[in-house]
Amino acid sequence: RVFRHATQASQAVAQQIAALIRTREGEGRPCVLGLATGSTPVGVYNALVQMHQEEGLSFRNVVTFNLDEYYPMQPHELQSYVRFMREHLFDHVDIDPANVHIPDGTLDEASIDDYCRRYEQAIQDVGGLDLQLLGIGRTGHIGFNEPGSGRNSRTRLITLDRMTRRDAASDFFGDENVPRRAITMGVGTILDARQVVIMAFGEGKARITAEAIEGEISSMVAASFLQDHPSAQFFIDEAAAEAL
Ligand code: GLP
Repeated sequence: RVFRHATQASQAVAQQIAALIRTREGEGRPCVLGLATGSTPVGVYNALVQMHQEEGLSFRNVVTFNLDEYYPMQPHELQSYVRFMREHLFDHVDIDPANVHIPDGTLDEASIDDYCRRYEQAIQDVGGLDLQLLGIGRTGHIGFNEPGSGRNSRTRLITLDRMTRRDAASDFFGDENVPRRAITMGVGTILDARQVVIMAFGEGKARITAEAIEGEISSMVAASFLQDHPSAQFFIDEAAAEAL
């Protein structure tokens, strides 16, 4: 779906998420959301906070799993996704902190494999992801599934692509400060979600958006695997649609 402006696309995504939260509440079941970071979903979170404040949209019934986190990363650091999610969403809504899951960037390396298995298990234990929200990196990554990430990959420690580290450099005040690794849900974890909503805004995303939607399905562009998903929607603005 192509919108003139990112704000309109964000509003539409927020409405879809709010409808899902209300439906699940009506069914007496938790609403399980996979959440993303980066600049792209900020408008969606702003709109959800506004719906909470103005329409009483409640997050009591919502369980969240974030896609990824830099490794290593302490939660209080400026660039941590824990901090990002609190600032943009969790501190402003009535979600139960026990229902929030974000990959832990503070672990010993030796315990990460086991931790990642438990992260996957926790998603299964609440019945799987109802909806996964995604942005897209210029490498075609979803989460931090960089080129080479297979269709069946699961939550794991990965090495960040050079382009991704360069794109993050301003957040870290220089390339040399960007962590080399991250923990991310896998492509397979994302594809298991019952619905996927991926967003791309701005001309800088036009080439990779076209590759993801119209290019060959390949592990060189993780987002291309969404072509095979039964319920994946792209919400993009006109600038990101330019190369379609
Ligand atoms: C980071 C995140 C991705 C996000 C990407 C794009 O790499 N881990 O989930 O999609 O950045 O960021 P932005 O939305 O700021 O363009």
